[in-house]
Amino acid sequence: MERQGFFICVEGLDGCGKTTQAKILMRKLRKIGYDAVYTAEPSRGKIGRFIKRYCLHGGKRVSSIVEALLFAADRYEHVEAEIIPALKNGKIVISDRYLYSSLAYQGAAGLNIEWIRRINEHAIPPNLAIFIDVEPDTVIKRLKPKKSVMENLETQRKVREVYLKFVENGELVRVDGNKSKREVAKEVLSTVLDYLKGS
Ligand SMILES: Nc1ncnc2c1ncn2[C@@H]1O[C@H](COP(=O)(O)OP(=O)(O)O)[C@@H](O)[C@H]1O
Ligand SMILES: [Mg+2]
Repeated sequence: MERQGFFICVEGLDGCGKTTQAKILMRKLRKIGYDAVYTAEPSRGKIGRFIKRYCLHGGKRVSSIVEALLFAADRYEHVEAEIIPALKNGKIVISDRYLYSSLAYQGAAGLNIEWIRRINEHAIPPNLAIFIDVEPDTVIKRLKPKKSVMENLETQRKVREVYLKFVENGELVRVDGNKSKREVAKEVLSTVLDYLKGS
């Protein structure tokens, strides 16, 4: 498949600033003439809505295998319904969470990471995957009033460890998310522009 667009995903712990940064990035790219769109996972499709209701905010944690399978199913719908059509139109697609969220969260829950990759093999690889790295203690403070089932400190630490492995192997590009929103946004934009020019 010919890809004219450019696919970026923004990854990190809940509360690290993904939504904030993905939206700022979209606005900044638009300002300098790129056709950028924002999207997020879980998606707004049927399975995505189901996940939000029953897995993230349902109170009781469902089995991590079920979670992994549902996220993979939602992701494939997201790719087919939204990401590929936008890329074919030449857009820069910015996804707030993608494949690495499954690898990090369900991996941290004890599932085999290669199995998670296999059930996601139809999810096209991003051109650039950014990891906004924030200390687990900090994200817990930022999120206090709206905790979901994935957000205790021990879980956050484990999830961060998995994310950092993908930084080490070069699949994720780390941006320091402990700074101010503005400073983080600057670093995100310069990372993206480096990749866009190199692509
Ligand atoms: N760099 C930052 N410094 C301080 N607070 C931040 C920063 N980035 C985001 N926040 C705040 O932290 C909270 C979570 O940010 P959000 O972008 O929703 O994170 P995520 O989408 O990763 O869960 C929000 O209240 C947001 O305003
Ligand atoms: Mg968010």
